[in-house]
Amino acid sequence: MEVIIQKDYEQISKIAAEMVVEVLNAKPNAVLGMATGSTPLGLYQELVRLHKENNLDFSRVTTFNLDEYVGLPVDHEQSYHYFMYENFFKHVNIPPHNINIPSGTTSNYQAFCAWYEKRINECGGIDVQILGVGGDGHIAFNEPTSSMTSRTRLKTLAKQTIDDNARFFDKRADVPVYAITMGVGTILDARKLILLATGKSKAWAVTQTVEGPISSMVTASALQMHQDAKVIVDEDAASELKMREYYEFIYQAKPGAPKR
Ligand code: F6R
Repeated sequence: MEVIIQKDYEQISKIAAEMVVEVLNAKPNAVLGMATGSTPLGLYQELVRLHKENNLDFSRVTTFNLDEYVGLPVDHEQSYHYFMYENFFKHVNIPPHNINIPSGTTSNYQAFCAWYEKRINECGGIDVQILGVGGDGHIAFNEPTSSMTSRTRLKTLAKQTIDDNARFFDKRADVPVYAITMGVGTILDARKLILLATGKSKAWAVTQTVEGPISSMVTASALQMHQDAKVIVDEDAASELKMREYYEFIYQAKPGAPKR
């Protein structure tokens, strides 16, 4: 795992975008794993800027989103379908039929989840998966105690996740209780993982992810088992890391690394 500590959100977003661009340069028909939430917004804005100003091409790209709330129609303002179209898809040139987001309104969740897994495989697997992390250490909606080998499935949201996400809804009671989510095993199958985190509220989760035991209580700690996982965080999110100086030393010593 490589830990990259940056001074602010803008830098984090820029570095993550550079990593995505590197993947696209090597493989223009790459399969991108997308995340929602407030954390990756800056990354999406930077990719949109690169598309508009530098002709970054997404015409051969396929995407798979991590998760979706159960029960929200695609045009609901808090659905992840809506989020992705508003914040990214409508601004770039990914062919609509290459965009895959779990359905929150299917009549058969089990069959849909099996199809989603099959579709990822048919597309050659995910080349790079973008991740945020919940305050409780979840990735996608793999809440504490989710199996580290779990696949795409229905999941009941934990109280902390419902509390955290209530800020996006009129009232707490409106937050869906169920979600459809890629599993930890699905995420670990991606060739590269990029986890982004900012702010003090993520400091505990980041420390557990990087330095804690591998535990289903913090599903992000599964990244420790991945061969190519990058964790990009700001000063606040890094504030409880014990080995911080070591991560900074490694990053500064990297050829071509931007000096702070
Ligand atoms: C969303 C997702 C979630 C979020 C996490 C952090 O697709 O997978 O795991 O990444 O809840 O959310 P924010 O970025 O809003 O703090």
